Amino acid sequence: AKVRRYRWEVTYELQSPDCLEKLVIAINGRTPGPTIMAQQGDTVIVEVKNGLLTENTAIHWHGIRQIGTPWSDGTEGVTQCPILPGETFIYKFVVDRPGTYIYHAHYGMQRSAGLYGSIHVSLPDGISEPFAYDYDRNIVLNDWWHKTTHEQAAGLSSIPFVWVKEPQSLLINGRGWFNCSQAGTAVCNSTNPQCSPFVLTVVPGKTYRLRISSLASLSAFNFEIEGHNMTVVETDGHYVEPFVVKNLNIYSGETYSVLVVADQEPSRNYWAALNVVSRKPDTPPVSPSSTTTPTTPPPSPTAPPAGPLWNDTEYRLNQSLKIRARRGYVYPPPTTTDRVITLLNTQNRIDGHTRWALHHTFSQSAPPETYDRANYDIFKQAANPNATYSDAVYRLKFNSTVDIILQNANSMVPNNSETHPWHLHGHDFWVLGHGPGVFDPVNDPLRKYNLVDPIMKNTVAVHPYGWTAIRFVADNPGVWAFHCHIESHFFMGMGIVFEEGVERVGRLPAAIMGCGDSHHLRRH
Ligand code: C2O
Ligand code: CU
Repeated sequence: AKVRRYRWEVTYELQSPDCLEKLVIAINGRTPGPTIMAQQGDTVIVEVKNGLLTENTAIHWHGIRQIGTPWSDGTEGVTQCPILPGETFIYKFVVDRPGTYIYHAHYGMQRSAGLYGSIHVSLPDGISEPFAYDYDRNIVLNDWWHKTTHEQAAGLSSIPFVWVKEPQSLLINGRGWFNCSQAGTAVCNSTNPQCSPFVLTVVPGKTYRLRISSLASLSAFNFEIEGHNMTVVETDGHYVEPFVVKNLNIYSGETYSVLVVADQEPSRNYWAALNVVSRKPDTPPVSPSSTTTPTTPPPSPTAPPAGPLWNDTEYRLNQSLKIRARRGYVYPPPTTTDRVITLLNTQNRIDGHTRWALHHTFSQSAPPETYDRANYDIFKQAANPNATYSDAVYRLKFNSTVDIILQNANSMVPNNSETHPWHLHGHDFWVLGHGPGVFDPVNDPLRKYNLVDPIMKNTVAVHPYGWTAIRFVADNPGVWAFHCHIESHFFMGMGIVFEEGVERVGRLPAAIMGCGDSHHLRRH
């Protein structure tokens, strides 16, 4: 195993990802930042210098379990104190599984300002993937706003509440396209090479592995390459029993590898279309991207694919149900569980502030294990949306098996339930099941749980008015965030913290400390 060393400086820069100039957070001058390339078993060392001048920062390595290095998880306020302006923090961790992962800021809303990138972990020499391809390509999806993240954050925390609304652009590999005639007084230049469309040039007949990941702050995406099917083979670092899709639904925090064969008529271009689903789109749907042969034929003669209907929840649920572990790579889950925690996904009001909370109301000192199923109608707005705040931590017995039932519900808007992609730090979990409506604790586990070949993931969606059940083993000493990966939902409180086996965590590095009471990792 090798040591891979990176030296990064995080700075604000004026850039034009969608042709409109604004301040972005860049790593060594770029957003997305550099892709970390490593092999399974390698040690990655990233020296992060905070060059933001007036802001703290921290970087999370999303999908890396940090076994034995919980202080390198980068979750500001949970696993470390922030990196102060001018200071350098050294992250050091082992990448113990091959696959496609991401990294991003875990401080304020800095991820939305551009601080993100990819991590590719390949197999050790001599071992090959259970599928063949000729080329490996990276596709990072994101949504983009013209307001600063500071203005967005201030609006979300204000009374009255100011929502961020739909993004102005969608970005593929950091590039989008905004119509400059709508830019008002902003600097916007549609011929700026920075916003030239992302083009994937392909050789006819070859097979491409596209590593697709979503860092979206808000949007659920549907990705489609005109005229080409995609075979899904990997998600979140786990091999998927291959299945073919015309287009792929992908939620923030998820990664997928798909195989695409350049098997269509080579004399023309094809659209790569990114469409918003789950929320009513109010963003031009397509980054003007295309796949092309090396001879650059004329643009696609057809209209870009429109994707599925944005509100077709069943279509997205069906894709979720298709994802299973690949034969020969199945790690069966424990057949029973030690604890079931049901998290009701609700929107609430706390001291007049709009929040995404878990559970309707609670005031116990220990966080609740479930909600009042008999008296809560998930299909309606809560009669009383007022809730209280708790920073209590869920203490998990070391090595115990824990099930989480994510129960979706109506938001504070009539007839509205949103998609929430939930991400667990420090672990992969088994996705036991998804279903519509209210989770039935007796019948749904019996009839709908997959205990045979469930996929393991680190991020999974709960669909509107539905439920998702996951299982994991609390075997990684540390404190770990579990939260909705939508940046504004997390900012509005949609997350919890698990603590497990902290007595087994060794001596904590001094570099993570020094921020008073706001961190939870303790020395024992
Ligand atoms: Cu990718 Cu805690 O998030
Ligand atoms: Cu959410």
